[in-house]
Amino acid sequence: MKVTVVGAGNVGASCAEYIAIKSIVSEVVLLDIKEGFAEGKALDLMQTATTLGFNSRIKGVTNDYAATAGSDVVVITSGVPRKPGMTREELIGINAGIVKSVSENILKYSSNTVIVVVSNPMDTMTYLTLKSTGLPKNRVIGMGGALDSSRFKTYLSLALDKPSNDIQGMVIGGHGDTTMIPLTRLASYNGTPVSQHLTSDRLNQVAAETMVGGATLTKLLGTSAWYAPGASVAYLVDSIVNNQRKMIPCSVYLEGEYNQDDICIGVPCIIGNSGISAIVDVKLNEVEQEKLNQSAVAVRNMNEALKEVLK
Ligand code: 2OP
Repeated sequence: MKVTVVGAGNVGASCAEYIAIKSIVSEVVLLDIKEGFAEGKALDLMQTATTLGFNSRIKGVTNDYAATAGSDVVVITSGVPRKPGMTREELIGINAGIVKSVSENILKYSSNTVIVVVSNPMDTMTYLTLKSTGLPKNRVIGMGGALDSSRFKTYLSLALDKPSNDIQGMVIGGHGDTTMIPLTRLASYNGTPVSQHLTSDRLNQVAAETMVGGATLTKLLGTSAWYAPGASVAYLVDSIVNNQRKMIPCSVYLEGEYNQDDICIGVPCIIGNSGISAIVDVKLNEVEQEKLNQSAVAVRNMNEALKEVLK
């Protein structure tokens, strides 16, 4: 199996690293426009193989899309990341043109691939990729919900002072500081509702921390995060190439599901070797559905900015 990661910056390199370290596929291609950059990152990563004990091969290339031919999955991380104080939404003008041209180039060499979109604003970039390529909806996946859910579970485990792997929870809606929806009502600690272990104030605080999880890191690091985004991508890619059929919240094109139409936004999906094999219909209560409706309004407003690019 072969995976291409486009963009060898912090996020792209972390995606390649985790995919390789976990031996998810035999071949990872890392592509970047900056001369020699992907080659350097790939070589550095390859030199960890003997000490870390993995056999995946990582190849770095400068803008050579022919080297990506036959990829089963392509991860798009290209574009500029957030700077402190910036929202993901402010990146739209620059990143739209980049993501559109990357997806066109990718499909010239891997016409059957599944595309995982990481570039921000992620829901809008997922919508752009779907619309500009004309790919079927199952083959274009936005990864935001996987990452936001991992942050939610981390903040829950810290609040509960319990191991992360005993925590279940998911975040739906847009991948934005004000648009994501941590589903606190459904979160659980080893099968028991977290509301039995935390006060509602503490739970609300966890939800608030989750929503600004990316912004908090951007402020601390001076640029956007990479370990958790990279790990979330690897988790998704594993479920795709190994047909694990995990339920993962992802940004996906909706046609009536969750009362939404003509939008890519985060909802729980079954992820397997066709990409999105099903959208899971979780029964939301009225408050949650209203939050999703509001989130969709914000994402749709942002998609308006794509009119020129999609002409
Ligand atoms: C984040 O939330 C990169 O959007 C990504 O960290």
